[in-house]
This record gives sequence, C-alpha cells and structure tokens, in this order.
Amino acid sequence: MSINDDLIGRSDVNDLEAILAVSNTERDEVISCVSQNAEAIFTWDYTKGARPSLDKLYEKAKVSMWNGETDLPWDTPVDQEKLIAEQAMANSAAGIGLADFDISGTSFEKWTEKQWVAFAVESENWTLSQFMHGEQGALICTAKIVETVPWIDAKYYASTQVMDEARHVEVFAKYLDTKLSGYYPVNAHLKMLLDDIVSDSHWDMTYLGMQIMVEGLALAAFGFMHQMSIEPLLKQLLRYVMSDEARHVAFGVLSLREYYEQLSDAEMFERQQFAYEAAVRMRDRFLQQEVWERMDVPVKEAIELVMRTPTRQLFQMMLFSKIVPNCKKLGLLDRNDQWLRRRFEEIGVIQFEDWVDTSDEYERFALGEELEPTAG
Ligand SMILES: [Fe+2]
Ligand SMILES: [Fe+2]
Repeated sequence: MSINDDLIGRSDVNDLEAILAVSNTERDEVISCVSQNAEAIFTWDYTKGARPSLDKLYEKAKVSMWNGETDLPWDTPVDQEKLIAEQAMANSAAGIGLADFDISGTSFEKWTEKQWVAFAVESENWTLSQFMHGEQGALICTAKIVETVPWIDAKYYASTQVMDEARHVEVFAKYLDTKLSGYYPVNAHLKMLLDDIVSDSHWDMTYLGMQIMVEGLALAAFGFMHQMSIEPLLKQLLRYVMSDEARHVAFGVLSLREYYEQLSDAEMFERQQFAYEAAVRMRDRFLQQEVWERMDVPVKEAIELVMRTPTRQLFQMMLFSKIVPNCKKLGLLDRNDQWLRRRFEEIGVIQFEDWVDTSDEYERFALGEELEPTAG
C-alpha cells in the first residue's frame, strides 16, 4: 500500500474520479457529532507572560475586538448578478468568469451569458458557505485548544480566538442570509479534514491542522477575494476577518515552534504526514464539485476544464502561500529526508517556501493599515 493510499485514500494524488467519489452524505442533518479523544489539561502555573510572544498576542487581541453587528455597513445593497458582471469587467483574471475558459468542443460551448452568470452566483454562494463552515471548525478547534494546551498564556490567547471565531461565523452567516442567494452544506473534503483535526488526541495537532493549515489557507483565500471584490460590505467584512486571522496564524507558529524543536524524528513524521493530508484535503475542496452538480453539468469534464485555466492554477497555488513558509519555519519541510518538501514539490507549491512566514505578520494586517500584496 502506498503512503497516499494510507493518508488520503487514493494512490494518485491527482486521481479526479477518486476525489469526486467523496461526497457529503449528511446533507439533511442539523448536527454532526465527532469524538474529541483529547484530555483536558489544568495548569497550576499561572505565571502570565512566561511566553512573552503569546502574552503580547493576547494583549493585542483584547484591544482588537470589533462588533460584527455594528461595525459593518449592513445597509449596503448587494445585487449579486450586477456585481458579477461589473467584477468580471474590472478584473477579468478573477478566475470565476469565463474569460479564459477554453470551451471549444465541450458541453459549455453552447452556454449563454445567463448560464455563466448563474454559475458565478452559485460559485459565490458556495465559497462563502464553505468559509462559514470552516469558521465554525475554527470555533470548535479553538475551544478545544483552551482545554488541551498546557500553557496559561496559550489558554488566555485561545480564549480570545474563540470570541473572534464566533464573530466570523456570525458575519459570514449573516452575509449569506441577507445578501446572497443560496447556501451549500459543508464540502465533504473540508468536513473530513475538520473531523480529523477535532478528533486527534494530541493538542499540537489541533494547532497544526487549524492554525497552520486551515487558517493559513483562509488568510490567503480571504486576501485574494478582498483584492478581487468590488462589493464594499464584503470587502470590509473580509478585511476585518483578516485582521483577526493573521493573529490566529501567528498563534499557531509561535506556539508550535517551541514544541516542535524537541520532538523526535518519528513524532515529526506524524506531523509531516498530517500536514500533507490536510494540504490535499484543502486542495480537493476547492474544486467546487457541488456547484457543478447544482448546475447540472458533467462534473468531471467541468473540473478538468477549470483546472487547465491559468488563473485557476495561480489561485490554487496562491492558497499555499502562507502555509508553506510556516511549515518551513516549524521545521516540518526538511525533517525525515525532506519528506514534506517532496510532497509539496509533487503538488506544485514548494515555490512559496521563502515567502514571509506569519509569526509576526499580524501587525501588517491590523485594522487601519494599508494592505499591500504579499511577496517573497
Ligand atoms: Fe476565523
Ligand atoms: Fe481564525
């Protein structure tokens, strides 16, 4: 059995049939239960500031809270179809338009402008729905970290992140409910990843899965959408969420750096495998298979088409622009004969290894700072 079979349930990481065979079987359920398997840890060492970088982050978080109900301009009218047309013109490289699809000889050849707009609307509904589900994953994982991490400075900080994540779920849910035109259940690949993170018994795996992988990707994806969007409410919502997310990713890097320095090769190998599995699950989830199903078109053909477009490939790679440097900073790339480096080479994202890591990038994302596109 190959390592891929073991970790991600298929031997070829790019096997599209196998990826599409995984779908959400609980679409109509209102709740989903996952066993946590971790011990709750009390600490009797209350020395505040024993880990100065976490203490600094905690103090910063306390004064950076915002109110999703009153700080965002909810009275902004949002006309999804009109915005899509305007946005396609404003940035034809957005990746959700039709500008660079080579559709000759495919089922899309006869698609009208109206169908493409309908697709873009569904795509936006799907994307925001998955952001919302991911935010709930973060809410649950951070509550778990409060219980399982052994350091008081980390418990303090994690408690502020619980509040941040509640706010994030709240604003994405409100945006979907009041401004968009539909909702999607959680994507099966994202749910598998969230379940893995929640059910792992090691406290550091929650950080690695959530703060490093899921939130690292979210920070990049929100940044991309923030840059592309011309809708002022969504732009501001994403900007506010990003200012929090940058702290969350820093929390993961700062906490794990100390801990991973003293792990054995075997222990590090487990973490490398977990990071790889998470990376693949996230890559799979961005194929948006449910959108194509709802559009009632051949899903495999549609995805193969989208995957070939240059903007899509760029977007897909950019999602890893925070994750790879952070994994490098944690020593995950090169331990055990560069195991994770080889995997990241295979999925085509290793080029980000020397981009800035996010251990102290949160200052740059603070509200009131001008956001510049990140580079190496
Ligand atoms: Fe969040
Ligand atoms: Fe977060």
